Amino acid sequence: MTQNGARTSEVTVKVPMNIALVKYWGKRDEQLILPLNDSISLTVDRLTAETKIRMVQGVGEHTVEINGKPVELSSNKRYQKVFDEALRLQRKRKADSNGNENGSISYHFEVISTTNFPVAAGLASSAAGFAAIALAIQRLLNLDDVQANRLARIGSGSACRSMFGGLVHWKKGKEEDGSDCIAVRTDNENWKDLYCLIFVFDDGRKKVGSSEGMRRTRETSTLLQHRIESVVPKRIEQVKEAYKTRNFEDLARVIMADSNQFHAVCLDSAPPIQYLNESSWHLMDSVETFNRFGVKATYTFDAGPNACVIVQKKDVVSFMHFITQELEFKSKDDLQSIGEELGETFKSPETFRKPVQCSKLILSSMGGGPEA
Ligand code: PMV
Repeated sequence: MTQNGARTSEVTVKVPMNIALVKYWGKRDEQLILPLNDSISLTVDRLTAETKIRMVQGVGEHTVEINGKPVELSSNKRYQKVFDEALRLQRKRKADSNGNENGSISYHFEVISTTNFPVAAGLASSAAGFAAIALAIQRLLNLDDVQANRLARIGSGSACRSMFGGLVHWKKGKEEDGSDCIAVRTDNENWKDLYCLIFVFDDGRKKVGSSEGMRRTRETSTLLQHRIESVVPKRIEQVKEAYKTRNFEDLARVIMADSNQFHAVCLDSAPPIQYLNESSWHLMDSVETFNRFGVKATYTFDAGPNACVIVQKKDVVSFMHFITQELEFKSKDDLQSIGEELGETFKSPETFRKPVQCSKLILSSMGGGPEA
């Protein structure tokens, strides 16, 4: 396509955020964003970043707009890193195919992204955003999966797990250049019965950003080394096995244990990092109560107080009836729309055992992957 005489290509993609079942926390290389441990995740289909990218021929500034607001790129170097790498790959391909012809032509990117969930509230919004940019650039430049995965990762580590559907395993790799650090889909068939409920307790910016938090934990926590060496490798295998055999109880136990250990290493950092709040603890306590006659729900928390509760489709209604007695929902519309979707009515009591308010509740299927 040509615009004002310049060649312009455009691609739009929609990419879901992902939630780690075994968490990534700590980098072995900050520049290349290489993690200290493997992690494994599922996408949350309903929480997406829809991103349009235009690649424009000619000298010009890259621009990024998220939810209608321009991003200041000079103070947000990660975008520049991704664009530089994309253009390097493009020049290399051109040089390989044309004997260096066209290698000097300039291009710049224009990105317009819309997310349908709070940005930077511990809901891994940057993962969906950078995965969408990487996927769109993959389409524009015809990159292979390994190159696209690297682009997503250098934008935001966990973004490389949003590039596929199903159960996605991000391998830390051993090589210094990161060539074997890659996310791969592990299953042959998505476990379609898994649903999640996202409880937003606080949609403000997180107190300690994940890069700063990871640095602090790596430099000061003694528990982290034990986690990396002795705990995570076993848990990755347990999650894969439970997912393959559709063993919800085993899967649920590992997910809760890993969320709790991730928050324990945060607390084991100096100064300590606290992401969970009173509402998070009340939610955990409620899930424990719901599970007292058998494990039917599991919780996980990223770098913030908001919860992701995973249940099987058959248990969504009973969990909803239970949790609406435990938490006060600010928006009755959320309860109503989830009720309509499930063909049920959820009623709130007059009083609650604890005054805990949830500002937003989202029900979503899992593992669907991107749409392009
Ligand atoms: O990719 P980042 O820098 O947003 O870090 C993500 C860290 C956690 O969300 C806490 C864990 C994870 O594996 O997603």
